[in-house]
Amino acid sequence: MKKLIAGNWKMNGSLAANEALIKALRAGVGTPACDVAVCPPGAYLAQVQGLLAGQDAIALGAQNVSQHDNGAYTGDVSATMLKELGVRYAIVGHSERRLHQAENDVHVAIKAQRALAAGITPIVCIGESLAEREQGMTEFIVKRQLSAVIHLLEQRVGDIVVAYEPIWAIGTGKTATPEQAQAVHAVLRAQLQAATDKAQEVRILYGGSMNAANAADLLAQPDINGGLIGGASLKADDFLAIVAAAR
Ligand code: PGA
Repeated sequence: MKKLIAGNWKMNGSLAANEALIKALRAGVGTPACDVAVCPPGAYLAQVQGLLAGQDAIALGAQNVSQHDNGAYTGDVSATMLKELGVRYAIVGHSERRLHQAENDVHVAIKAQRALAAGITPIVCIGESLAEREQGMTEFIVKRQLSAVIHLLEQRVGDIVVAYEPIWAIGTGKTATPEQAQAVHAVLRAQLQAATDKAQEVRILYGGSMNAANAADLLAQPDINGGLIGGASLKADDFLAIVAAAR
């Protein structure tokens, strides 16, 4: 299966910085062996859509989507609106949103459903905290998070992308070892297998301090099908090196 490398810019960028970054990515990406996406802040989606026009190596993604359809939801952006802006992927349930915006498993599952209904592929983020890992609860936590999505989507769960992002590895420079990540990915694959006959086609990304130096080893694991890249996605050279490692 084709791997996916997605850049999560988080709340970073400016009109000028985005233009420079996309120009450098376009110049260096060539014909990648994997799928590639960038997920800028919502305010810049239209700008980045324009900057990506006329090429198909790099797709556009959003960092969030409303769990509502349309209507009186001040501040929200619907999946239909994202679709109009050319958005192909939407990150849902990132741990930063679960923490700061109090998103729970049910919200995240509904967001995934909204995205799919609009023709957008949700990238569903799951992952345990350091305390949970230390208490031996990693499997329990990630299975609970994924099962909420399976429960709502049923067979359609075969159309999502999963991103396993251990919270203790995000932005900390402490990457999970390839073996640690693979162990969790295998658990998730088995859980998907029980839910859909398309489990082998579901891409399970790793995220958390993935960079140009450690990407190849992580991506060599049998159940790691790509990466969700934060910090390193803001530097064109680093992001392109990760893209090149994904074959
Ligand atoms: P990081 O972030 O690569 O900066 O650790 C990954 C993410 O939060 O998606």
